[in-house]
Amino acid sequence: MEHLLSQKIDDNFYYIGVNDRITHKFEGMWPIPNGVAYNSYLVKGKANILIDSVKLNRITVFLERLYDALEGEDLDYIIIDHIEPDHSSGLTTIMDNYPNTKIVCNKRTLPFLKNYYNIEDNIIVVKDKETITLGDKRYTFYTTPMVHWPESMVCYDEDDKILFSQDIFGGFGTLDGAIFDDQIDFDSQYLDETRRYYINIVGKYSKQALAALNKLSHLDIKMICPDHGPIWRKDPSKILNLYTSLAKQETVDGVLIVYGSMYGNTEQMAELVAQGVVEGGIGVVKVSDITKVDMSYILSDTWKYKGVILGSCSYDNNIFPPMGYLLSDLSHQKMKNNIWGAFGSFSWSGGAVKRLKGFLEEEKLNYIETIPEIQGAANPKEAEELKELGREVARRILKASEEK
Ligand code: FEO
Repeated sequence: MEHLLSQKIDDNFYYIGVNDRITHKFEGMWPIPNGVAYNSYLVKGKANILIDSVKLNRITVFLERLYDALEGEDLDYIIIDHIEPDHSSGLTTIMDNYPNTKIVCNKRTLPFLKNYYNIEDNIIVVKDKETITLGDKRYTFYTTPMVHWPESMVCYDEDDKILFSQDIFGGFGTLDGAIFDDQIDFDSQYLDETRRYYINIVGKYSKQALAALNKLSHLDIKMICPDHGPIWRKDPSKILNLYTSLAKQETVDGVLIVYGSMYGNTEQMAELVAQGVVEGGIGVVKVSDITKVDMSYILSDTWKYKGVILGSCSYDNNIFPPMGYLLSDLSHQKMKNNIWGAFGSFSWSGGAVKRLKGFLEEEKLNYIETIPEIQGAANPKEAEELKELGREVARRILKASEEK
């Protein structure tokens, strides 16, 4: 039978994921201008097995694909590798259509099933590293706590060497016709959005991500089927290496300068700092306005560039509120590989520099101790201090690079 809606991966193996171009912000926070794919897989045979499902807003399209691939057969099992609702909020609708289906999950998934969906029956609970046979398939499960939620796990097809990796190895961006790595130009189409996804969603759990990658390192993996982003059948090592690099917080030799300015004086200070960075020998500089660039992209850039310099005006004896929000987000990221700098301005009372310095100290970050604090617009002496801040960050980046 010709399958019009599902896409064949291999014999008796179908991609039935869906694209979401409707949602503006993933998790209600992170902009997804390129959308996102909720991947789902159907394995057919002695038993028909669904591996992860989709968000409720795309359930109609999903059910059509599932029905199409099942060709009138029943669904026997749903493996839930990760229960965050982008992969499970359509679950009760699926169960209504296929009431004989059993759920396969680990014990940490049980309270989520009860609390979100009031599901307590027809559940097979698997343990970490346990292998079970479903139909003619043998799957081994590996728990990956906090990558991305406490109950997260992956499952490994022992015979076909396929890793179903849930959020791990995922990225933002819909799958536009192509679903495999060898059909796309990953670097131009998906790299930036995969990095941003990792940093926004998984970044703070990088220690656990490294532990998960280590736990899976012994597996012979022929194909990676994640819950977002392309399927890796030609070169799984590419996404493995990228995720390892991101989890290790490897940076490029460049500098991100983020500023918050009300009337342009702090912006001009940022320009002077940028000139200093270039004079110091680093030409890769990005200057971002905190009031215009969404936090999601700024966080992604702080992870990307070795140098991060924060500049803020003062507001009501405190830091400029958008910069305060950024500091709050950065404090969750547990970033340890950057070289930090800061500068601030005020009109009649300070606040910004005090808060910036407090943040750098509290987070135990590697920062330049001299933090220029300027009243009004920078005079020539202060302009030189700002340039020197940029030069010093550049010098330390080059030194760190030499010592690698
Ligand atoms: Fe794609 Fe953590 O959900």
